[in-house]
Amino acid sequence: AAEPLRSLLLSRIADVPDYPKPGVVFKDITPLLADAKAFGALTDALAELCQRYHADKVVGLEARGFILAAPVAVRAGLGFVPVRKAGKLPGATLAQSYDLEYGSAEIEIHADALRPGDRVLVIDDVLATGGTAEASLQLIRRTGAAVAGVAVLLELGFLPGRERLEKALAGAPLETL
Ligand code: PRP
Repeated sequence: AAEPLRSLLLSRIADVPDYPKPGVVFKDITPLLADAKAFGALTDALAELCQRYHADKVVGLEARGFILAAPVAVRAGLGFVPVRKAGKLPGATLAQSYDLEYGSAEIEIHADALRPGDRVLVIDDVLATGGTAEASLQLIRRTGAAVAGVAVLLELGFLPGRERLEKALAGAPLETL
């Protein structure tokens, strides 16, 4: 993002040491959400990306991705589609599991939420190992829809999330604000 926006956003993200466990520094975005100017500027910037990449649907990743993506969809005049943790969606779903440091996780999308010809911008708050975003891109492709891009607020540069995502992106852009 442009420098003034980048500084504004960074100034509203708090570092919480030793959460959720000792030695981890948690990036808390709640001060940003509580600041109308910062949240509005973030929403505008993400809505602009929808235009730039010709997206016609916005996908948000549970849970903090929902908070960021829903106002973007409204501002961009696009529909919102949730990717949820397994067991939360009532209709017929597609599921994708992915590896965590210990064990695995599973996410789902409604099978009829996207269709061939749709172009999707995927929004989440943080790209860490990239596992969640990678599984989301696999789900989206399985619906037949195209990935217009992935946009995150924060990328943890000391983790190889960007590299992990490269193949699943298949040339689509990964934007970090
Ligand atoms: C966090 C974050 C991303 C994901 C990033 O979500 O919001 O979705 O982890 O990690 P990864 O790149 O290593 O996959 P979390 O699972 O904590 O869920 P929450 O938003 O529901 O708290």
